[in-house]
Amino acid sequence: MAARSEGLALEKLWQAPDGGRAEPVDLRGGPLPPGLASRFEGELAIELRPDRPAIVANFVSTLDGAVSLGPSEPSAGGGEISGFSEADRFMMSLLRGLADVVVVGAGTVRVGRKHAWTARFVEPELADLFAAWRSEMGLAPQPTTIIVTASGDLDATHAGLNDPDVPVIVATTPAGAERLAKLPLARHVQVKVAGKGKRVAADAVLEVVRGTGARLALCEGGPHLFGELLGARLIDELFLTLAPQVVGRDETARRLALVEGTRFGEGASRWTSLAWVRRAGDDLFLRYRFEA
Ligand SMILES: NC(=O)c1ccc[n+]([C@@H]2O[C@H](COP(=O)([O-])OP(=O)(O)OC[C@H]3O[C@@H](n4cnc5c(N)ncnc54)[C@H](OP(=O)(O)O)[C@@H]3O)[C@@H](O)[C@H]2O)c1
Repeated sequence: MAARSEGLALEKLWQAPDGGRAEPVDLRGGPLPPGLASRFEGELAIELRPDRPAIVANFVSTLDGAVSLGPSEPSAGGGEISGFSEADRFMMSLLRGLADVVVVGAGTVRVGRKHAWTARFVEPELADLFAAWRSEMGLAPQPTTIIVTASGDLDATHAGLNDPDVPVIVATTPAGAERLAKLPLARHVQVKVAGKGKRVAADAVLEVVRGTGARLALCEGGPHLFGELLGARLIDELFLTLAPQVVGRDETARRLALVEGTRFGEGASRWTSLAWVRRAGDDLFLRYRFEA
């Protein structure tokens, strides 16, 4: 399938007024550097928190809420959901460009075997611009990848685990760490046991993020990890691309947020306020802020 939205900039349709705050806020980002600004109308700034690292999520979804046509490659990735939209890829690269860490669940890692969670991976021709922007903001050259897994079932040859420029932390359980200890992981991959349970609690994920000194984490899913962080009220914002696709009911399709053992509306249900609407061709770019 050909890339959609090719050459289109993200046009600003509506943005909530941000003024009127009593307290000054600490922001990451602002006006985009020339070269990136031509593809995105306006500024991109994310509010940092004084009490903990801010966590924002980014997903692309069909109009009927599917984020994966799963269960495995080649149909499972976000590319199939977005129709390989160039504008969506650019939005993803901007958020990665701002983040100190990118947090992903092992399910997402297992289906994207060639993927690495950096801006330069998705926009290689803009790599120098992103490097200069990050350096200006005083950020590390690349965001650290944090992979959350209970089982430790990772492929040591995965592209995202094998770029020495990109630090990787695997946050796991004691059993997961035992399994990972048997793998020939690259030297820059660190395994951290986060709690004693069979899962990594959302708060333990936060502690791993905090331990890196990060102020801004980008959660790129998938639905299980996002659902757990959402349920623990740790997601501050959601950047959601709506792709103009309806897939209908499919046993293998995944919805945006999943928390095992809960029914629709239970546990993870949260209200948000709309912060902006942008558009590139038929794609809508929505930004939502969760209640504190
Ligand atoms: N459209 C989009 O924007 C988008 C974004 C992200 C992902 N996706 C798609 O979503 C699909 C994957 O969905 P998913 O729900 O399986 O994704 P996921 O959350 O990435 O993966 C679930 C797995 O991650 C690990 N995990 C997550 N939370 C954990 C926790 N609190 N403690 C311990 N382990 C935890 C577990 O790994 P172990 O099994 O190893 O224990 C679990 O089985 C893929 O097809 C991917 O491409 C789409």
